[in-house]
Amino acid sequence: MDLSHIKEAKRSLALFGVSERIDIINKNIWVDCPQCSRVERVVKNMLNARGMSPAPCLLVCGEGGAGKTSIINRISSRHDAVDGIVAFASLAENPDDLRFRELLLTALGVPLKAQGWSGKIPNGLEKYLQLRNILAVIIDEFHDALLAQVAEQRRNLSLLKKLSEPPYHLSIMGFGTTSAVNALNQDPQLERRFEVLKLLPWVEGDEFRSFLASIEENLPLRKASRLYSQETVKYLLTNTNGTMDQVLKAIRFGAIHAIKSGEEKITMESMQKGAVRRWDY
Ligand SMILES: Nc1ncnc2c1ncn2[C@@H]1O[C@H](COP(=O)(O)OP(=O)(O)O)[C@@H](O)[C@H]1O
Ligand SMILES: [Mg+2]
Repeated sequence: MDLSHIKEAKRSLALFGVSERIDIINKNIWVDCPQCSRVERVVKNMLNARGMSPAPCLLVCGEGGAGKTSIINRISSRHDAVDGIVAFASLAENPDDLRFRELLLTALGVPLKAQGWSGKIPNGLEKYLQLRNILAVIIDEFHDALLAQVAEQRRNLSLLKKLSEPPYHLSIMGFGTTSAVNALNQDPQLERRFEVLKLLPWVEGDEFRSFLASIEENLPLRKASRLYSQETVKYLLTNTNGTMDQVLKAIRFGAIHAIKSGEEKITMESMQKGAVRRWDY
């Protein structure tokens, strides 16, 4: 069996049975792409610029499914350099319905009880941050904090501004939709501290073809699908609008149907079947 379309370390997976291979496909695989690596690089460089005042801040924006949360997860799990020095908060995961300030302080490790009077930065926070060596906070679904009602929004912006200034010097790194950029415009001084990186949808080109080739190298299919071929690229772009999440779903469901049907390679038909039947395999 010619398995040269799969990378060497993963070739043996193609010999597994149907359900084992479907499990593998359903697990997330990570494939580096220029936009993702750029965000990781900028985060790393900002962390290395410790001591800068005000601290450099970052806004990564992209629509739903562009890969924002995945990049955050990757940063938190893969970069040893980030260990301890970056706090993580998500406005999507807020079961106790905390206000932005409380959520942020909790993410920094300040217990609710010690957060003090609402609206103020707790006394001693600068010492605490220094002691724990926290340089940055990464906030997912950042736009939620900025699209609140006017009074709340003003409070949140002012909090972020103070935290990025002396004595806190905290790099604020928000990930959210493009609406966050407009909200930041309200405060030009704060806006200038932010480097804005956009996660754009895939378009036809070498970067996309190379991304598709890397995905294919990781899939346990016994035949070559040639996902980077002109025909497949065109199919994917017209049927997914180039959104990362949708591209991966089209490929994933297509791969599963290709295994179930015995065809063993992703084709237009298996992707079409995958799009209609999805989990019904
Ligand atoms: N570089 C990547 N390689 C492989 N899969 C990725 C990559 N980036 C994103 N994904 C996948 O895309 C999907 C959507 O990503 P997600 O991070 O939830 O988007 P967002 O937070 O912007 O809505 C996820 O299933 C994730 O596994
Ligand atoms: Mg997300």
